[in-house]
Amino acid sequence: SKPHRIAVIPGDGIGTEVVPEGVRVLEAAAKRFNIALDFTDFDFASCDYYLEHGQMMPDDWFDTLMQFDCIFFGAVGWPEKVPDHVSLWGSLIKFRRDFDQYINLRPVRLLPGIKSPLADRKPGDIDFYVVRENTEGEYSSLGGRMYGGTEREFVTQQTVMSRIGVDRVLKYAYELAQSRPRKKLTSATKSNGISITMPYWDERVKEMAVKYPDVATDQFHIDILSANFVLHPGWFDVVVASNLFGDILSDLGPACTGTIGVAPSASINPEGKFPSLFEPVHGSAPDIAGRGIANPIGQIWSGALMLEHLGHKEAGAAILTAIETVLAAGDKSVLTGDVGGNGTTGTLGRAIAELVAGG
Ligand code: NAD
Ligand code: IPM
Ligand code: MN
Repeated sequence: SKPHRIAVIPGDGIGTEVVPEGVRVLEAAAKRFNIALDFTDFDFASCDYYLEHGQMMPDDWFDTLMQFDCIFFGAVGWPEKVPDHVSLWGSLIKFRRDFDQYINLRPVRLLPGIKSPLADRKPGDIDFYVVRENTEGEYSSLGGRMYGGTEREFVTQQTVMSRIGVDRVLKYAYELAQSRPRKKLTSATKSNGISITMPYWDERVKEMAVKYPDVATDQFHIDILSANFVLHPGWFDVVVASNLFGDILSDLGPACTGTIGVAPSASINPEGKFPSLFEPVHGSAPDIAGRGIANPIGQIWSGALMLEHLGHKEAGAAILTAIETVLAAGDKSVLTGDVGGNGTTGTLGRAIAELVAGG
């Protein structure tokens, strides 16, 4: 069959270290399961590209990437070179918005061999999805600075929640909950303090819940929900949230599973009208970049999500099994420091790739 065309964009910092391990594992899976993957590397969407060209991406980035089925992405940001809001709004946030990747799917799972910072948790105890709205909400470009440079200076940035935007992410989350054994959906808002947008989201949840009578719906304010992620992570199955709340919950959830280094993410345009993007939850980690010690599992698991998205469920599952097997084996010389080892990005990536290749 026709090869899947994958645009590979490593970006900055550890993005450039974990992406090759992700590609290594994808190539092993492609070989074993007879999947044709055609990778093309791009150097744009990085701060070095910006320093050379004065912008994060070439003018024709949209048409270029439209030629691809998926984008396999590392991380962007190097605040010493380019202010974060410039590098991110010039690349990753453009992808999410212009390619209408309105679903940000972020699995949170305690994996074997990793110690949760929460006492007495074992694999199975923490296993849920954060479904994050990915194109609007608090990440809006509506607003600005008034009376700049004067005593009366002020800034505003408005939250935007459209009916289409809220309903489509709720629908996706409800359908995901319906497909899971526990069939439970938790909505995160802050309707006591944020008095227009957040009650609107609640109102849409209430209306949507009627269409999914087999799914149990509950709802928390974001403050206590954060506390409950730590105190009772087993309560959650599918957690749906606005752009900012989903961002925060998708670092907190993985932290409860021991490290954000393993957390994957899929920015999906479910209609397939535009390419979807697969990237780890974590960023470019300037504090550890260049040392070859970053955990590649977040990137590798994102590759598994990509294969699933492309219809290769078995291959995606095989990658996850390989990740679990290597972690459970607990060989310190293979594992990275964040999961208790003294190995490297390469030792861990290669160990997973070998298992995927060997079956
Ligand atoms: P970060 O996720 O890069 O790092 C946070 C902490 O987690 C650091 O101590 C880092 O060393 C550690 N860490 C992250 N990934 C790891 C891995 N794979 N293995 C081991 N340890 C890991 O977050 P930050 O420090 O807030 O941001 C750094 C830069 O990355 C900023 O420019 C930020 O804007 C950007 N960022 C980009 C993305 C993205 O591209 N999706 C996501 C988050 C942050
Ligand atoms: C993420 C990141 C991004 C976000 C930043 C880098 C803009 O934190 O993918 O979680 O907030 O979405
Ligand atoms: Mn984030």
